Amino acid sequence: MPEATIDLAVVPVAGRGTRLLPLTKSQPKEMLPVGRKPVVQYVVEELARCGLRRFLFVTGPGKTAIENHFDIDAELVESLRESGKEELLRELAFERAELDYFYTRQRRQLGLGHAILCSAPAVGNEPFVAALGDSIIGIHAQSQIVRRMIEAFHARQADAVIAFEAVPPEDVVHYGIAQPDRSPSGDENVFRLAGIVEKPSPAEAPSNLAVAARYVFSPVIFDHLRETEPGKGGEIQLTDAIQRLIQSGGTVLGMPLPPAERRFDIGNFESYFKAFLEFAFADPEYGGQLRRLAKGLL
Ligand code: UTP
Repeated sequence: MPEATIDLAVVPVAGRGTRLLPLTKSQPKEMLPVGRKPVVQYVVEELARCGLRRFLFVTGPGKTAIENHFDIDAELVESLRESGKEELLRELAFERAELDYFYTRQRRQLGLGHAILCSAPAVGNEPFVAALGDSIIGIHAQSQIVRRMIEAFHARQADAVIAFEAVPPEDVVHYGIAQPDRSPSGDENVFRLAGIVEKPSPAEAPSNLAVAARYVFSPVIFDHLRETEPGKGGEIQLTDAIQRLIQSGGTVLGMPLPPAERRFDIGNFESYFKAFLEFAFADPEYGGQLRRLAKGLL
């Protein structure tokens, strides 16, 4: 019998986004625009193209705009239809996608690992994708990495598959960093993890491969999250739970993002500005004139 595929995505969106203050004082960072869409819409569209159908958002205070965004706004649809604004109506097509949305709350902001753990009662005993709501993969989210990760998860009977991206050595301090197992894996697109380290110094980093916001997990990750002690700032680190999973003999695989499927992290101003520029420059209607404007300004 073919393996049942994975169609559930957990999307943590409960973080306070303090690095983007004052922008995020009263609006979720996951709703910030990148080009024409809010970040979290790209995340859902990317995952839907990879076969995900059920979306469980882990939300928190001040995040209701996310729920509203994925609702069907019948009044708005009606008024656009009545005034013949068909082209604008097309922009709302995502509302009608055959997807199901669920919401649970992270009642205390105790970090990403804790946010994932908050999804456990709803996820139950099935494997799932976890996708950070503040990161887009690939220009206009045209990435199939999650589909490939799900395939590897089943083919290798893994406990977890994690996307990684090579970063400059000075940036390793911001991410979970892979310690790849150097023995041949039989597939050049996948490597086995011997370990993972949260935010190492460049001197201590075992590689320059940084966790890139997409994961496939077996529900066994919840057991490890429950046993993970809070680390820096009282937060439960997902990286620590993954390290526990590796140490307990679990099969944890890494999959590097190809250059065409780069990660756009909007969690700090530097990468948010870069992401907005690239998406605006790639806009089919305004990209050309924006690029000319930028050249003139420089
Ligand atoms: P970050 O690691 O960027 O944390 O979150 P943050 O708290 O949002 O941001 P800063 O550091 O205050 O600027 C990565 C993803 O994990 C979610 C965030 O919403 C974001 O999508 N997250 C983070 C949670 O859901 N809960 C948390 O406690 C922390």
